[in-house]
Amino acid sequence: MKKFIIANWKMNPQTLAEAKRIFNATKLGVKNIRNIEVVICPPFVCLDNLQQATGNLKLGAQNCFFEEKGAFTGEISPLILKDLGVEYVILGHSERRRIFNEDDEIINKKIKLVLKEKLKPIFCIGENQKQKNQEKTFEVLKKQVLKGLTGVSRKLVKNLIIAYEPVWAIGSGKSCQSSYAQTVNIFLKKIISQKYGRKTAQTTPILYGGSVNSENVLPYFQEAGMVGVLVGGASLNTKEFIKIIKTVSKA
Ligand code: PGA
Repeated sequence: MKKFIIANWKMNPQTLAEAKRIFNATKLGVKNIRNIEVVICPPFVCLDNLQQATGNLKLGAQNCFFEEKGAFTGEISPLILKDLGVEYVILGHSERRRIFNEDDEIINKKIKLVLKEKLKPIFCIGENQKQKNQEKTFEVLKKQVLKGLTGVSRKLVKNLIIAYEPVWAIGSGKSCQSSYAQTVNIFLKKIISQKYGRKTAQTTPILYGGSVNSENVLPYFQEAGMVGVLVGGASLNTKEFIKIIKTVSKA
């Protein structure tokens, strides 16, 4: 299966010039990489500019709205994302859930529209520290997955990507142990298999995200069996991000 390395720039950088600089430096650094799908998810307002020359890089968005058009001030339609060369859309990120009160129903509506428009959702799920302490990880993940995928047909689900992002590992420097990530990976495959059959479970990419860097990235592939990573902070540091990609590419 193809490997994925997804950069989530979040609300960074603060100028278009800097966005272009990071993008172009990354593009140059990965120009000979063929075995990894490297996706950059910049702020919406950079997309038009960056789509001009993407090289090996693919473009993703960090969110979108669940309607195609209309009176929704401040929201972004998946249709205009498609028009701007976007292929992937991060949905259900824990920052969207926590800060912007996005619940499973809202995320489900977004996933359904994004899949209908033939974009690829990177559907983020993950337990927070309290839920982990209470040993509720599996319960939380199962609910997020099943509610997020309610009404999603087997035909549409083939474009889905799942990202396991434990909330306690995001931006904390406390990355998840690969053995823990492996257990979650197996659990997620089981849920997908129960809902969509074994074949879909085998072909749905499952990614890890949360404090990934060039030192800790390999075990997520080699031990946890993940097929990709979602990288926040380290994706803005071009040298480090390229190192992550090359480390995975060579392994
Ligand atoms: P981090 O963010 O790599 O900075 O922990 C990951 C994410 O939020 O997707």
